[in-house]
Amino acid sequence: MEKFVIEGGERLSGKIRITGAKNSILPILAASLLSSGKVRIEDVPRISDVKVMLDILECLGVKIDWKENSLELDADSLSTSEIPEKLMCEMRSSIFLMGPLLGKLGKVKVSYPGGCAIGPRPIDLHLKGLISMGVEVVEENGYVSAKAGTLKGSTIHLDFPSVGATENLMMAAIYAKGFTRLHNVAKEPEIVDLQNFLNKMGARVRGAGTDIITIEGVKSLDGAVHRLIPDRIIAGTMIVAAGITDGEVIIENIIPEHLEAVISKLREAGLEILEDSDSLMVRGGKIKGVNSVRTLPYPGFPTDMQPQIMALLSYADGISVVKESVFEGRFSHINELNKMGAQITVQERSAIIKGVNNLKGAKVKAPDLRAGAALVLAGLSAQGTTLIDEVHYIDRGYERLDLMLQKLGANIKRVHAPVINV
Ligand code: UD1
Repeated sequence: MEKFVIEGGERLSGKIRITGAKNSILPILAASLLSSGKVRIEDVPRISDVKVMLDILECLGVKIDWKENSLELDADSLSTSEIPEKLMCEMRSSIFLMGPLLGKLGKVKVSYPGGCAIGPRPIDLHLKGLISMGVEVVEENGYVSAKAGTLKGSTIHLDFPSVGATENLMMAAIYAKGFTRLHNVAKEPEIVDLQNFLNKMGARVRGAGTDIITIEGVKSLDGAVHRLIPDRIIAGTMIVAAGITDGEVIIENIIPEHLEAVISKLREAGLEILEDSDSLMVRGGKIKGVNSVRTLPYPGFPTDMQPQIMALLSYADGISVVKESVFEGRFSHINELNKMGAQITVQERSAIIKGVNNLKGAKVKAPDLRAGAALVLAGLSAQGTTLIDEVHYIDRGYERLDLMLQKLGANIKRVHAPVINV
């Protein structure tokens, strides 16, 4: 069990480059199953979620060659459509494999997916969409089996713009007969990235980034080379890291438009952020309370940045209110932040944060990926030593967050043995 030990109080400075997006690579890996040629993906983050997805693909018969941040896949030897339960449970994104496997092999059997404990995460929208494309679905003893002869194009209205359901149905529709129209879809940049990747392989998908995506079924897909878009959540986390330590950091390889909601709230909170075409400079300042952070589907404020902004607002002058509208129960970081001296209370789906002058180092536990990142951020400026347990959650989505922060001058170490006297 690895832990982070952080001595708070160092102002961060310097330059950091952001890697490719976790939420792009996971569906893109699933989409590569649809190809009959070799696929190469560049700027792949070396995070544990990617490793789990690759383990699943390997079990399905895919050949994989992963060197540094470049990944080659050959799915021509795809041999089975049954995903091992142990791997399926490790990551919610394994659900994306349903669409491509149904498209390519006409059947799939999966167990209910796992993932971070951030509230109930049903898959009803995925299944409703697949059923409307002619898929027969049987849910039994914790497993979902689905089969279809040929999928047929359909018009599907999502009750909620679910990111995963949008991506799964886009992929299922690639080999469906005729046109599929998906209404009220998610508009996240990673969905546009998936569309671009699919079209490079020869698919006919349009509309990603708007409310309606149309897919015209094709007979086969070729190989392709694709560079992932940068990870906007890692970029947002690093902006907060600079702000919370009153530092000055340049963040390179970003797409500023993808971060507009985050940048705008962080400016309101007192950070100085200067945008360039593919980078930005952030400088700390006096943190002010912000009473209107509300998580929403893109282009709203991302739920994946909610814990991190809460860490920052813990230090604000005044009261802040953060409402979580996307996931129920995504407040597991609050207990841990309060152990460090934050003053946060919860009323239904809102957190009320009474800013304090200082947090104090404490022994805390990362309850999930982004909550873990928030604790690291809090520890960077807390007085004394913070010990963070369960950092494997953080490694799911950040490629060595400890090394990134060390590069900017943070005093953070990864340790293996239990640390006493903290
Ligand atoms: C994706 C992201 C995750 C992000 C989330 C919301 C990836 C790999 N993960 O997760 O980082 O936090 O989007 O931006 O891209 N829902 C249903 N039924 C369904 C599907 C979803 O009710 O069939 C609900 C969920 O319970 C949740 C909401 O819709 O309350 C959003 O979920 P969704 O957009 O599907 O998130 P994920 O794709 O799991």
